[in-house]
Amino acid sequence: ILSADEIVAEEIIGKVAVVIDVLRATSTMITSLANGYKQILPVVSIEEAKELSASLKEKHFIAGERNGVKIKGFDFGNSPCDYIKSSVRKKLILTTTNGTKCFTRLQKAQEVIILSLLNMKAVIDWLQKKDEIVFCCAGRGGQFALDDFITAGKAIAQLSANNQIKLSDTAKVACDFYSYNKKSILKTLKNSASGQNLVKLGKESDIEFIASGEFSIVPFYKDHKIEVK
Ligand code: MLT
Repeated sequence: ILSADEIVAEEIIGKVAVVIDVLRATSTMITSLANGYKQILPVVSIEEAKELSASLKEKHFIAGERNGVKIKGFDFGNSPCDYIKSSVRKKLILTTTNGTKCFTRLQKAQEVIILSLLNMKAVIDWLQKKDEIVFCCAGRGGQFALDDFITAGKAIAQLSANNQIKLSDTAKVACDFYSYNKKSILKTLKNSASGQNLVKLGKESDIEFIASGEFSIVPFYKDHKIEVK
């Protein structure tokens, strides 16, 4: 498990990178792709998002947040609930405070996939045959975030249930932390710093949605785009 600031491009070569920003960037990506969006273009800055939007000829939406709040003038914020039952087959340009930053450091990975609690089962099935896996937790300001850690822990617990796998020390702690709290995931998410920020912003329903929904998709990041193969 690595936090965003610990990702060193060279150390990811040949490995499968699993990006987690459960509250809420990867949850928004999964929900939008599962509900008709055809592609997500993750970008780091607001300026980059605006420039890309101005240069993109195809119809698209532009979305994002800073500190949880929708960016002024953008079509949407970063609420997964905004993307449920959409029938659009559009591209989505997305910039978020922490989540979209991870991708620039993962260009050298063998494969990069997107995980949240929403697509846990599909991702675990897909990871079964993979050798070296690195969970990249977006965190907050590059630092540790409990919500991403428990999500990684759930994935690790499920992967180790049927396979003999060698775990790093952080992976062991994440797995134990998940096992200890598995009956109170929603509470753990709400109590995390990211969760508390969302509660303060009146977005508690996003946390409930993320803790209970399920989409059977595995989105891949390649060549600056995220899509389901
Ligand atoms: C982020 O990228 O920092 C988050 O997804 C923030 C949020 O919208 O909750």
